[in-house]
Amino acid sequence: MKRVSHLRTTIRGLAILLALAAAAAAAPALAEPRRSAVEDCAACHGLDGIARDTEVPHLAGQNERYLFNQMMAFRTGKRVHKEMRYMARHMSVEEIAALAAYYAALPPR
Ligand code: HEC
Repeated sequence: MKRVSHLRTTIRGLAILLALAAAAAAAPALAEPRRSAVEDCAACHGLDGIARDTEVPHLAGQNERYLFNQMMAFRTGKRVHKEMRYMARHMSVEEIAALAAYYAALPPR
């Protein structure tokens, strides 16, 4: 009988481990920005965060907090720019945070 209960404990332990592993695997996906959002930005800022147009700033490798603050400033209109205001107004704060983290993690030019 002792053996059986030991086996049960092991199985329960494995089930918990599997559940934790599944949760860990699912978690980073939530922090990533929508693919379509990144594609929208890519038109001007480049898919790699390196802008091809001299009028557009590079985002790759920029400080995450700075990127977040600038997008929030475009959103409120504190930093005035027509296109960026339009882009930022259609993003949630979570999405802005995810985009800031995404571009900050890309290698700078
Ligand atoms: C139509 C072109 C265009 C699109 C699309 C666009 N941007 Fe921009 N973005 C610009 C321009 C131009 C600037 C510079 C604004 C200025 O001169 O103040 C800018 C500035 C920024 C800045 C500030 C950078 C800095 O160095 O201060 C951030 C952050 C940014 N954009 C993020 C994004 C994100 C994220 C997206 C996608 C959701 C996006 N942009 C889409 C044109 C665009």
